[in-house]
Amino acid sequence: MFLSFHIIRTMAATFHLLLLHHHTNTIFFLYFFILFFPTHSLTPGSSLSVENIDNILLSPNRLFTAGFHKVGDNAYSFAIWFSDHPSTVVWMANRDEPVNGKHSELSLHKDGNLVLTDAGRYIIWSTQTKSNSSSIKLQLYNSGNLILHEQGNPVWQSFDHPTDTLLPNQLFTKNTQLVSSRSSTNYSSGFYRLFFDTDNILRLCYDSRKTTTVYWPDPGLHSWQVGRYQYIYSQRASLDLEGRFNSTDGLGFLFADFGYGPQRMMKIDMDGNLRVYSLVENGATREWVVQWQAVSHSCRIHGVCGQNQWRSLIKSFEGA
Ligand SMILES: *[C@@H]1O[C@H](CO)[C@@H](O)[C@H](O)[C@H]1NC(C)=O
Ligand SMILES: *[C@@H]1O[C@H](CO)[C@@H](O)[C@H](O)[C@H]1NC(C)=O
Ligand SMILES: *[C@@H]1O[C@H](CO)[C@@H](O)[C@H](O)[C@H]1NC(C)=O
Repeated sequence: MFLSFHIIRTMAATFHLLLLHHHTNTIFFLYFFILFFPTHSLTPGSSLSVENIDNILLSPNRLFTAGFHKVGDNAYSFAIWFSDHPSTVVWMANRDEPVNGKHSELSLHKDGNLVLTDAGRYIIWSTQTKSNSSSIKLQLYNSGNLILHEQGNPVWQSFDHPTDTLLPNQLFTKNTQLVSSRSSTNYSSGFYRLFFDTDNILRLCYDSRKTTTVYWPDPGLHSWQVGRYQYIYSQRASLDLEGRFNSTDGLGFLFADFGYGPQRMMKIDMDGNLRVYSLVENGATREWVVQWQAVSHSCRIHGVCGQNQWRSLIKSFEGA
């Protein structure tokens, strides 16, 4: 299946070149043909259109797909998702500013800038990169990293700009953060955030317009009491393919299902909890199963158990 798809694409591209000077009808046919096959890379002067669902980039292992993802009525975000689980989005370019379902495009300009335009007009997002090289290319790698590179040298990569998910081998640093989504149906930025604090400790906080409240690690304890160390002059954390997470502040753990095999990810969920998941076979389907979570009592998460919930909790105790 993969092989034939590959051959057909190569053939189509070759015929296109051969026939360029001949029949316009044939060219039309071939363009039509090419349009219905996903591409593997975006080259200078080309673009992906929101209107054509086949305008996607696939990783060579076909595990990840990059393309326009529907996020609302006539609203799309350029995103990366698991090909078999389109609802598991791992990255978004424009989560807070979706584009129109007509005439929106992601284009790699000849000057090396990767640009997302809304309805053919407004620039919503861009990588702000510059390159004169005609060899610059946008490709989705097997790791799920979308890389704009010049002959293998990255000039921009999605792994440096995470949204709410960290994939295996994606480095989390003091320049990155994970921000939760608003809800299960709304991918725009929510209120919870994972970040390296100024003392180099990895923390979770709740950000509202009025306040910032740290809730993990437990603010009632010293960081050393929970095995975390300040003042290390490095802030790096990552998840590896075997299911091991480790951070320079001393936080480290193994997934419950440690070992090579399943797909994995770390995600700050809309409820503010940080969780790691493995994709597990369950009969005929595969589902994401929690292997670890930062906060065991969700009431410890700021904003989750509001006053009303406390009241109803107290009432139910009184009633008992
Ligand atoms: C998502 O939530 C934001 C903030 O409340 C809101 O502005 C936006 O319209 C919502 N988007 C969708 C698709 O519902
Ligand atoms: C690109 O090429 C132009 C003209 O050849 C040159 O002036 C410019 O400095 C080059 N830009 C970069 C980023 O190399
Ligand atoms: C992270 O894991 C590696 C082994 O995989 C280990 O050598 C290293 O010391 C760990 N780092 C931290 C900060 O725990």
